[in-house]
Amino acid sequence: MTSRTCLTVILAAGEGTRMKSSLPKVLHEIAGLPIVGHVAKAVQGAGGSDIALVVGRGADKVETSVRALVSNITVHEQVERLGTGHAVLAAQSAIEAGYDDIIVVFGDTPLIETSALEMAREKLAGGSDIVVMGFRPDNPHGYGRLIEQDGRLIAIREEKDASEAEKKIGFCNGGLMALRGDSALALLHMIKNENAKGEYYLTDVVEIANSQGKSVVAIEISPDNVIGINTRLELAEAEAIWQNRKRREMMLAGVSMQAPETVFFSHDTVIEADVTLEPNIVFGPGVSIASGTVIHAFSHIEGASIGANASIGPFARLRPGANLAAKAKVGNFVEVKNAKIGQGAKLNHLSYIGDATVGADANIGAGTITCNYDGYNKYHTEIGTNTFVGSNSSLVAPVSIGDNAYVASGSVITENVPADALAFGRARQEIKEGRAVQLRARYAALKLSKKAE
Ligand code: UD1
Ligand code: MG
Repeated sequence: MTSRTCLTVILAAGEGTRMKSSLPKVLHEIAGLPIVGHVAKAVQGAGGSDIALVVGRGADKVETSVRALVSNITVHEQVERLGTGHAVLAAQSAIEAGYDDIIVVFGDTPLIETSALEMAREKLAGGSDIVVMGFRPDNPHGYGRLIEQDGRLIAIREEKDASEAEKKIGFCNGGLMALRGDSALALLHMIKNENAKGEYYLTDVVEIANSQGKSVVAIEISPDNVIGINTRLELAEAEAIWQNRKRREMMLAGVSMQAPETVFFSHDTVIEADVTLEPNIVFGPGVSIASGTVIHAFSHIEGASIGANASIGPFARLRPGANLAAKAKVGNFVEVKNAKIGQGAKLNHLSYIGDATVGADANIGAGTITCNYDGYNKYHTEIGTNTFVGSNSSLVAPVSIGDNAYVASGSVITENVPADALAFGRARQEIKEGRAVQLRARYAALKLSKKAE
């Protein structure tokens, strides 16, 4: 990566009315991260760590959310929406601070890849004054066309201003641009609004730079990179592309998937090599999984850290704060929340373990529930190492079960169980010989007498 300094201007003053949402467009999420967060992540990867975000009037929500996601950010309001060239100048105070490179990206193009931005910055480092990121869409209608001559980009013509010949050009403006910091402001200020839309087009900076003898080039990036989100349909399409990229990346990094198209990752999912993911798994944010673990089908995992060689599911739900050591087993219809599960511990069937610590090698029987909530407050359950909790037990927190203790099946445990003890929390069974015969006779007689009435 280059040592040149870089400011990225993210344009996000659009209103996003076509999303039909009370949430600003750039805050809609892909893989659990707002659209604009994806953009910020990509530019930070390319060394564009200082960000100037241009927002529309009163976009406080956008500002608050983006500030929570990235540091080194200044926010600029574009009060009137007079075009992309005008929008970049809203960030003038940030640009004036002086950077080697200025990158301009759109806040609603979440699939931009770090490599594309790096490529543009390399061109600047190589002596270009402006680098435009072009692509070849299936249908170029609506995009600015890139007019090249002898390997140089001489102009970008917007659809509405293009001649019939220019409209035939398939190489289009993706909207993203990199400019040399020392000449950017002067060139941007020369942009006029004499065009079909009466807007200040950022794209006009290309012709202006050429007239000043500057070097302008276009690089070609894949169409995925510049997909803009305007509707929920496009949001879902972008999600699908993102998920496919992530699946590919995961598999190439050593993660096995039988039906990758049914596994959904979060933007921050971390999975080591030699993990196997069965079909139909959904990851929420904050998941890490160590090598050798198998996640069986139909599991939902969020905010969980899973050690090596563990086995999860099928049909398991790991919620935030689930922290599983190596070789832990969490089986079908088991929910774990805010709980530390020790090495080799087994929670194999139909359980809820919340706000708890389960020691190594403990065996938690089918149907065991930690009763952690009284409607007002949450309480902790401590389960020692090598304990055996019999099936269908309720552990009423706060409560602790000592190491190597044994809890009889069907117990309701309300008091602490010492280490090595056996706890019965249920009524003892009584046997009444022959009593079933008497009961049957009595009930049959009752039925007969009712019919006779
Ligand atoms: C722009 C390009 C076009 C390119 C296309 C790619 C210009 C003049 N045209 O056209 O060459 O092919 O993107 O998608 O740049 N914005 C502001 N303030 C404004 C205007 C726009 O912040 O005053 C923001 C929008 O929120 C959006 C981005 O800039 O994120 C692009 O604006 P948009 O109106 O979508 O430009 P296009 O007409 O699509
Ligand atoms: Mg657009």
